[in-house]
Amino acid sequence: MKRETFSTSLAVFFATLGSAVGLGNIWKFPYMTGMNGGGAFILVYLLFVLLLGIPIMLAEFYLGRKTRSNVVGVFDKLKAGRFWKIIGYLGLLSAMLIMFFYSTVAGWVYSYVFKAVRGDFRALGTMGTDEARMASEAIFGETLTGVSPMLWQAFAVLLVAVILIGGVKKGIERVTKTPMPVLLLLIIISAVRALTLPGAGEGLSFLMKADFSKLTTSSILAAMGLAFFKLSLGMGTMVTYGSYFNADNNLVGTSFKVAFSDVAVSLLAGLAVFPVVFTFNLAPEGGPGLLFNTIPLVFSMLPLGNLLLTAFFVLTAIAATTAMLSMVEVPIAILTEELRMNRRKAVILTTSLMFLVGVLTTHPDALFGHVEVAGRSLFDFFDYVSSNIFLPLGGLFITIFVGYFVRKDSLVREMTNDGQVGRASVIQLFHGILRYVTPILLIIVFLNALGILSF
Ligand code: TRP
Repeated sequence: MKRETFSTSLAVFFATLGSAVGLGNIWKFPYMTGMNGGGAFILVYLLFVLLLGIPIMLAEFYLGRKTRSNVVGVFDKLKAGRFWKIIGYLGLLSAMLIMFFYSTVAGWVYSYVFKAVRGDFRALGTMGTDEARMASEAIFGETLTGVSPMLWQAFAVLLVAVILIGGVKKGIERVTKTPMPVLLLLIIISAVRALTLPGAGEGLSFLMKADFSKLTTSSILAAMGLAFFKLSLGMGTMVTYGSYFNADNNLVGTSFKVAFSDVAVSLLAGLAVFPVVFTFNLAPEGGPGLLFNTIPLVFSMLPLGNLLLTAFFVLTAIAATTAMLSMVEVPIAILTEELRMNRRKAVILTTSLMFLVGVLTTHPDALFGHVEVAGRSLFDFFDYVSSNIFLPLGGLFITIFVGYFVRKDSLVREMTNDGQVGRASVIQLFHGILRYVTPILLIIVFLNALGILSF
């Protein structure tokens, strides 16, 4: 079977950005920043993007494009020991864990599209501050109850399945090309409106004042987890996508462009959310509902607000979908290539499992909705374990493998497209970072989180 690739470097950029940009930027980044005290958390996060995110993304691209293989097959192609396949199987598990809760949140987004079309948010614009805040919170509360969130989740997963059956070019490439720029425009509009609210000053200072006394051990771990989650790293997504890259793509260029654009989208989402938080007296540490409570309020104060709000959630839904495609593509590539399963069957099997476990565990009203593990709801537990443990652990194995078990000249050849782009010295520097900086930093953060090492 001939493997598909993306058709151009632009398609590669948008598909990769489509994987990175998702609920992570729009939903998770703002609420985690809120819960972890603002500016200082953002600074630590940026540091992790630079020192862990970009190098590990490059390492994943290398593995994928060099071998043109899925995350399990990579290690056969490179004649590495069987042990390394653990990276692939860990990735498979992470994809499952993430999808359980991610598809739930994607379902909320779809239900917001529906509510916006129906005009549920129209009244917000006519209310006073406190009344509007309470009305907005009440709508979110209602989103979480009953069977409808489960149906929306089913819809979100079904759409992913349908696109994935289409394959790489007809499926993934087609849906990632246009929406990104439009989403960006809508976030900019909401950020600009938010920045003219009375609470803008307070919102900005929350985002920009780095008060390091608010940084705790767990927020450092959370910032690292977010860096992995945001850039879709540590579970083989970027290996799998890298395996579809065209041969003349500049891997170093792509990784920097994707990382910077991704950070820009997150920061803009923060600018849209926090002025609203302070204007309407919401709690910055309010948790996963933050986006859903705030965004309808900003748009209610804009001309054509309801239309723009609808568009905002439509595009957020698209961004969530393209991110999910990249997550689910990991097990699909493993099943079709390693177990020779037919693509349609692999998609149906994987997405059904993701839906069934997700729907039973992550809704407050569902069968296992009230089960708690280690003091967390299953929703929080899946999120915590995948971002803070599995992804960084996968990343640690990847950086050690590429840093210590791959020949430097192979790395230089692949990353410079046989001397066509970039400079060998840059790749050598990056090799050094993969050997000495990335793994050590990862281990320090882990040990610190475990309380073995404190600083
Ligand atoms: N990066 C995406 C987001 O921010 C989520 C995502 C897609 C992801 N693929 C992934 C996270 C692989 C971890 C691993 O929404």
